[in-house]
Amino acid sequence: MGLVAVIAVALWAMLPAYIPNNVAVIAGGGKPIDGGYEWHGRRILGDGKTWRGTLVGAGAGLGLAGVLNLFRDSMLTYVQFVLPEFSLEAGIGLALGAMVGDIIASFLKRRFDHERGAAVPLVDQLDFVFGAFVLTGILAPDWFGETFTLPVIVAVLVVTPLLHVVTNLLAYALSLKSEPW
Ligand code: CTP
Ligand code: MG
Repeated sequence: MGLVAVIAVALWAMLPAYIPNNVAVIAGGGKPIDGGYEWHGRRILGDGKTWRGTLVGAGAGLGLAGVLNLFRDSMLTYVQFVLPEFSLEAGIGLALGAMVGDIIASFLKRRFDHERGAAVPLVDQLDFVFGAFVLTGILAPDWFGETFTLPVIVAVLVVTPLLHVVTNLLAYALSLKSEPW
């Protein structure tokens, strides 16, 4: 596979994992997942991780996987050959995994005494990628192996932090987020 195809597959396959956290920013609010509870004097997760944000975000990512499948049906055969179709398991793994990765990072940030919203470079940009990789690897191992070849994984790890920085700056500029990270 050439470089352009590798990047195309990386972006395509990760789209259902890119959307959930951004949708959560818009949809978030309401009851925090941790119910407001603390552990060793620190919030378990904090008010930034809500049920509504998580469910709507994951649902949006899964919905996007379905929409991408429809798009793919109308593409040229050789494009279809390169871009993978999303199975239900892959869609759930990517979308829900992205949210879970972000939630686990939030848990760790609280343990290290970082306030809600504190920036942790690279963790903030890649937590959801690892969550998506792990859950997709568990739920759809064959799909994962065929889609995320080593060059595609490298492309994801390089391109994602760049995209994440740009979209978060945009969300901040539009006053959707209170911090630019
Ligand atoms: N959000 C949500 N549920 C999630 C993730 C995000 O409701 N599972 C919403 C919250 O309103 C959150 C906003 O999206 O404040 C931005 O998300 P993020 O930057 O991940 O959270 P932070 O507020 O920075 O909190 P933390 O420090 O715990 O990551
Ligand atoms: Mg944050």
